[in-house]
Parts: sequence; structure tokens; C-alpha cells
Amino acid sequence: MSRIADNAPLKQLDEWDDFVATRYRQDKSEEEFRNYKADANPTVTEFYRQNHAYQTLDFVKAKKAEYCALNRGKKSIWEMAEYLNTLVDDSDPDTDLTQIEHLLQTAEAIRKDGHPRWFVLTGFLHDLGKVLCLYGEPQWAVVGDTFPAGCGYSDQVVFPEFFAANPDSKIPAYQTKYGIYEPNCGLDKVHLSFGHDEYIFQATRKYLPKEAQYMLRYHSFYAAHRHDAYRYLMNEQDERMFEWVRKFNPYDLYSKGRERPKTQDILPYYEELVSEFFPDKIDW
Ligand SMILES: [Fe+2]
Ligand SMILES: [Fe+2]
Repeated sequence: MSRIADNAPLKQLDEWDDFVATRYRQDKSEEEFRNYKADANPTVTEFYRQNHAYQTLDFVKAKKAEYCALNRGKKSIWEMAEYLNTLVDDSDPDTDLTQIEHLLQTAEAIRKDGHPRWFVLTGFLHDLGKVLCLYGEPQWAVVGDTFPAGCGYSDQVVFPEFFAANPDSKIPAYQTKYGIYEPNCGLDKVHLSFGHDEYIFQATRKYLPKEAQYMLRYHSFYAAHRHDAYRYLMNEQDERMFEWVRKFNPYDLYSKGRERPKTQDILPYYEELVSEFFPDKIDW
């Protein structure tokens, strides 16, 4: 398989999302859960091998400097959603949801449960950062469970053994419990591995409530929001706001099996929702 050797081991980006959803399948026993490797096919495993090996502190800082200044031009939320939809990979158009459909499905599940409008909107926005792939970033810099760089790796991160190949694992100052950070310094000061979470958070933070910002920024930080890892880096605000990250997660994981959203019917609602919070165009 030639993909194994290159930077795109996943046939489609959603393969990672699907793996996470299987990992946290609702009817799973504790034992099945700990045996997550059984759910990972060779491409997903290779993807994590790359992600854990290449996401160094220097890499994270460089990518933040590159993207978080938001100097890639102005676009509306809808233009960005359409752009993301051009990401087709090897997906099957008959059965696989488009990127916009995944966003709408997540948002619709939130709307049906009667949550506030900003929460529904957050569901619609949450994976827009995957456009990083269209900017030419490798899969391992776009998706994957996020983890702090610059401090010791928690064994609550999936495939922790792959961190041995990360050059940071040879830097003693990065391998203590706190590494370069202060105890309970707050996650805002912590450099998480780079990906679609950080990018969509940065692009939209000015327009959304704190709760929404947390949901976007940390939705892939499974070690923390699912396994309580790294609490020694979190401050009081993080602790409070992670309740919302946890509230959001099931909609991301479990809305996929639902029926295909009737895009044309619900579009007017989402057009109004987006324009309630966002100006015509924002910086990306
Ligand atoms: Fe995501
Ligand atoms: Fe998602």
C-alpha cells in the first residue's frame, strides 16, 4: 500500500473521526474500550504514528505563527463551507456524507435537543478548520486526538508508544510532568498539537461566547475531556468550560448515523443563524 509511506495514510480524513466514534461507541464495555487498537485499521495506526512522531513543540509553534495571524484572506463562513466541501478524498458520494452534511447533522442534533442558538452554530462550524488539508497540510497536522507538546506525554493519549519517535521525547526539559509550563497555568498557555480545532477557534473567537470557543478549540482533546488527563495544566476557567466541551462531544461522535440532513429545507435557518453572529466576511 503506497499510502502507508506517504503523508496521507487515511483514505479520507473522516477515517480518523470514524475511528474515534468507534472507540467511544456507546454500548462498549470497559474492556472493549481499553482494547481500542482492535478498532484501528492499518491506515489509522499509520496516521497516529506520523501524528505522534511529527507534532513537536517547534512544529506547533511554527504552524500557529503561520495560520493564527489569519492572513490568508477574507471569506464568508459559507464560502469556507463550500471550499471545505471540495475535499472529497476517496469517499463514496452515495453513502458518505459531505463535509457540509456532517456539519449540518451535528448542528441539527444539537438544535433538536433545544440548545441555545450559539451552541447550534458551534456544531455547524466545528470542523471548518479541516480546510487546512486544502491548504496542503498533511493529515497528521489537520486531524487526530490533540495533546500538549512541551511536557510529558500522558498514557491517556491513544498510541502513547508512538511518542518515542517524536524528537521532543529526547529533550529532558520537555519530558517532566509540567515541561515548559507552570502548574495549572491554564490551557490557553499550553501548545496543543496543531490541527483543525485551533484554526477554527482562532478564526471565529471574536464572534462567539467563551463556551463555544472552548468547544471548538478542544473538541479533539480526548485525553482531557474523556479521560481527565492533564488536569494539572488546567485552571479554574478550563475546568468550568470543559463541561461544555463534554456536552458538545456526543453530538460530534454520534450524530453521524442519523439520516441525511435535508439541506435545502434547513439552509434558510442556518443562513440566518450565521448572519446573526458573523459579519459578511471574516479573516481566515
Ligand atoms: Fe473535528
Ligand atoms: Fe466533527
